[in-house]
Amino acid sequence: MTNKNPKSKDMEKIVAFCKRKGFIFPTCEIYGGLANSYSYGPYGVELKNNIKKLWWREFVQKRSDMIGMDGPILLNSKLWKASGHTKGFNDAMVDCKACKKRYRADHVIKELTGEDMEGDLEGMTKKLQNGLKCPECGESKWTNVKKMSQMFKTEMNGIEGPVYLRPETAGAIFADFKNIMDSIRVKIPFGIAQIGKAFRNEIVARNFIFRIREFEQMEIEYFIDPKIAWEEIFEDWLKKQEDFALKIGAKKENLRRYEHPKEKLSHYSKKTVDIEYNFPFGFGELFGLAHRGDFDLTSHSKASNEKLEYFDTVNNRKFTPHVIEPTVGLDRLILTAICSAYKEEKIETGQRVVMNFPKEISPIKIAIFPLLKNKPKLVKKAREIYDLLKNNYMCEFDDNGNIGKRYRRQDEIGTPYCVTIDFDTLEKDNTVTIRDRNSMEQERVEIKKLGNYFTDKL
Ligand code: GAP
Repeated sequence: MTNKNPKSKDMEKIVAFCKRKGFIFPTCEIYGGLANSYSYGPYGVELKNNIKKLWWREFVQKRSDMIGMDGPILLNSKLWKASGHTKGFNDAMVDCKACKKRYRADHVIKELTGEDMEGDLEGMTKKLQNGLKCPECGESKWTNVKKMSQMFKTEMNGIEGPVYLRPETAGAIFADFKNIMDSIRVKIPFGIAQIGKAFRNEIVARNFIFRIREFEQMEIEYFIDPKIAWEEIFEDWLKKQEDFALKIGAKKENLRRYEHPKEKLSHYSKKTVDIEYNFPFGFGELFGLAHRGDFDLTSHSKASNEKLEYFDTVNNRKFTPHVIEPTVGLDRLILTAICSAYKEEKIETGQRVVMNFPKEISPIKIAIFPLLKNKPKLVKKAREIYDLLKNNYMCEFDDNGNIGKRYRRQDEIGTPYCVTIDFDTLEKDNTVTIRDRNSMEQERVEIKKLGNYFTDKL
């Protein structure tokens, strides 16, 4: 058996695979699509929900220092003014005058020269107009670099002025900090977690679901006493984020840390580190971790005239906590899980594509097959077993084609176990065949022991 991981240029293969198997596909294709927007299909949504559930379990359920919340997408616009987003959440845009292709200026410069010029609008204009060639048409006819807001605007009945689709989930955690403090007793250090949609009017959406305009974030604001040493807590969060990437199948060698240089940090940030994953198109940010000091709570406190403090009952003191913010894009985690799992293998009977997902995130856990679809007794028994197992696991019933083909179909969507009901089941010993996705080995298990068998395995 030989393994082959996708090569760096194999993004197209992943995109085609995701569409063919109903994981992820361009949305509204019958109307010509909508600018790199994607829908999650039947297997994609299972994978997504499993990763969300796993994240919530690891970072909220299993920790006594964490609580959750779920705020709305539309929030009071004063929040975005106080956080600096209304004014400062911009990207640098440039157009090629010859072929009209639009670029994010810092990205195209990085691609052409390797230089990181993010934030320096004038410098970028000079650099481009000094002879850099458009990667699309080869001309050097650039507009000046302009700022473009990433905020999506909309309107709300009865509200004056624009309302924004939130560009990050974190905002509501700070805006609702007071209500949470007033309603629940927490002991510092503690964190508030949230999962939800965020919207950014990206200049160029690209690399499949890596950079999209509507995406999901899983964010935590972890509040600490400003007097304590934060370095160890920061390092622990980095480690926890890396461990999570491993849990969804990423290989250690495909992860790396990137620490933002001190001179590029916001004035309030003590440290920011990204955890990057080696996607088929190269390394890209997966997680972010930032020490944001008391910037957020202080800004919202000033703008709202409300005290946003923590009361330390042990030492009888009130203070504004500092915050460490671990954040990750769910869609980027899904892409990581898919790229890590995809394998083409040569096997005795030919070749197979197998999605080697960790069992916990596999969209379907067990597939149930009657050996033959035209034998009512086999089908009836298989249905009974399917009805039993589906109470606890996401299952699929398949009676179409020969068993080899059915195995291939389940391998392609990453189902860890297939259960086949055959004539021995009915006539001999009440056992079924269970086939393992990775080893492709088979064993016979008694029907009455299936519950315990899968409790152990899954
Ligand atoms: N509250 C902090 C914050 O929003 P960010 O680095 O801008 O930080 C957090 O975003 C995470 O959201 C990123 O690490 C990335 O995984 C994900 N993300 C950001 N922009 C994205 C986009 N356009 N498409 C998909 N995921 C995105």
